Amino acid sequence: MIYTLPEVVRPLRDAFFMAEMEPAPTPRFPVRERDDARLVARADALAGAVVADAAVPTPAVPAPAKEELPKEERESKKEAAKESKEVSEAPKEVAPVSPPPETEDQPLPIPIARLVPKLKKSAKLFLEGKKRIPNSSSSLIRVASYDPVPPFIARAKGARIWDEDDNEYLDFNLAYGVLINGHAPSEQVRAVQEAAQFGFHFASPTVLEIEVAKMFQKMVPNAERVAFCSNGSDATMNAIRIARAVSGKDAILKFEGHYHGQHDLALISAEAPPVVSGLDEYPRPMPNSAGIPPGVTDYVMVAPYNSITAFERMVRRYRNRLAAVILEPVMANAGVIPPEPDYLKRLVEVAHENEMIVIFDEVFTGFRVAPGGAQQLYGVEPDLSCWAKALGGGVPVSAVSGKAEYMDMIAPGRVSFGGTYFANNLSMAGTLANLKMLHRGGEELYAKFGRLTERLAKGLTEAARDAKISFLEQHVNGILQFFFTRRKKIVNYRESLQIDWNLYLRHHQLLLDKGIYIHPDNYERITFSSAHTEKDIDKFVQVATETLKELRTLPRDYLP
Ligand SMILES: Cc1ncc(COP(=O)(O)O)c(C=O)c1O
Repeated sequence: MIYTLPEVVRPLRDAFFMAEMEPAPTPRFPVRERDDARLVARADALAGAVVADAAVPTPAVPAPAKEELPKEERESKKEAAKESKEVSEAPKEVAPVSPPPETEDQPLPIPIARLVPKLKKSAKLFLEGKKRIPNSSSSLIRVASYDPVPPFIARAKGARIWDEDDNEYLDFNLAYGVLINGHAPSEQVRAVQEAAQFGFHFASPTVLEIEVAKMFQKMVPNAERVAFCSNGSDATMNAIRIARAVSGKDAILKFEGHYHGQHDLALISAEAPPVVSGLDEYPRPMPNSAGIPPGVTDYVMVAPYNSITAFERMVRRYRNRLAAVILEPVMANAGVIPPEPDYLKRLVEVAHENEMIVIFDEVFTGFRVAPGGAQQLYGVEPDLSCWAKALGGGVPVSAVSGKAEYMDMIAPGRVSFGGTYFANNLSMAGTLANLKMLHRGGEELYAKFGRLTERLAKGLTEAARDAKISFLEQHVNGILQFFFTRRKKIVNYRESLQIDWNLYLRHHQLLLDKGIYIHPDNYERITFSSAHTEKDIDKFVQVATETLKELRTLPRDYLP
C-alpha cells in the first residue's frame, strides 16, 4: 500500500510525540499530555519566576522574569549586540511565536502548582539546557512527559537522589532499571576508581574482559559465548545481524509494543495506535520515528504478544523469510506484562520447528528478575540473548550471549561486531564489581527483590482499594507497574492502551511532591535495588495512600 505523507506522519506524530487530546473518562487510547509548545512556554515562564505560595492550590504562572545570565554569557551577549549593530541593515529575524503561558483564566493543575516552587533551579536549567541541547537532554525520555519540568538530579546514594533544588526523593526509577545495587555502591565506586588509575581504555583485549565474561557465565549458564558492547541498542542490533547471517534469511518478527532500542529495525511498532495499525491479530508494522525509511518495514513482521495462535499463523505464512523472532520475555516497555503460562516455551518450540532463531531481549529483565534473567525464571532457552541495564549497574555496558555455533560466526569476513568503546576498562571494572555483588547476594538477594516487589504490590493495591479508585497492578520479581483502569488483567500492547494515562501522570506529580521518584510515563516501570529496604517500600505505600485519596478529589477530568 502507498501512503501519502500526512497519512503516515500524522498518526505517528500523535502517537510518538503524544499530541494533546481531549481528556475522556475512559480513554481507549492513552491521553498523553505532551503538547511540547505548551510545556516549553510553561517552563520558560517558570524559569526565574517569582515563586507563588506553595500552599495556594491554583496560582497563575507569574510573568517570566528577566533571565540572570552568568558573566561569560553576559560578555558574549554584549559582543553579539555589538556585532548586530554593525550589520543593522540586514533583515531582522522574525521572532518565533510561542503560545502564551497560563493566565489567571487557566490555572495550573494542583499537582503542578505544588511542584513549581520546589523546582525553581530545575526550571532555570531546563531553559538554559534547551538553548544548547535539543529538549535539554540527550535522551528524550528523560524530559518527555515531565510537567512542569524534569527535576535535574545533582547527586545520589543508595536508594536516594537529590535534585538541584535539594529536594530528596526515594528512587524507584533507578535510571530505568539500571541500578540494581542502588546508587554509587562503595565497592563499585572503588573498582572504577582503581581501574581508572591504570588507564581508562586500551582498546585491546584485556584480562579484565575475560574476568567479566567468566562471571557472566556463572550467572547465565547457557552463555557459551558472550561479547560486550555499550548499550542495549548495540546488543539487539548485533543479535539481529548474527541471526540474519547464520539463517540466511532477511526478516525478523517482533511484537507490538516491545522496545528493542533506537536502531531502525527496533523502532518499528514499539508504539502503534491501533486505529492506524491494523487488526489485533495482524498488526501493521509502524515506524516510530521520522527518518526511518519506509522500506525498513519490509523486513519486520509484527505480532501481538502472548498469543501463540497469532504467532504460529505469522510464522507459517512467512517462515521462508523469517530469520529470527526477537522479544522481551517479560514485556517491560508497556508497564509490566508477564508472559502467559507456557507461552515462552511454546514460542521457542514453534520458532525452532520453523528454523527461526530465538532472541530474548533481556536488556530490562537480565540480572533483575533472576540472576540469569527471564530465561532462568521461566526455564526456557533462547539461542541468543541481549543484556544491558542491570548487567553494569550504572556503567555503560551491554552484551550479546548465546550458543557457540551462532556467536562464533563473529569473525573477520563473516559477521562484523565492534565498537571503539566496547569493553572499555571503566565499564568492565564497574560491571565486574556489580556482578560480584549480585553473585554474592545469590538466592537470598533475589528473594529479597521478590519480597520488596510483593510488599509494594500488596500495599498499593490496598491503598487504591481504600481510595476507591480503579486500579490494576502487575509485577514480576523486581519490576512492577500499576495502571488506572477497570481491566482485571493486561496481556498485550493493545490492552495496555485501555488505561488512563493522564491520571497516572497527575499521580506521578503528587508522588514527586511527596518525595517518591518514579517516571511520569505509565509505560515505564517501578524497580528495586539491593539498597532498598522494607521501610522504603512502606514509605512509598504510606505516601500512595495519601496521593491516591487526593487523586479522587482533583477536578473530575483527571479521574477514570
Ligand atoms: C527491552 C529493551 N531493549 C533494548 C533497550 C535499549 O537499550 P539502550 O537504551 O541501552 O540502548 C531497552 C531500553 O530501555 C529496553 O528496555
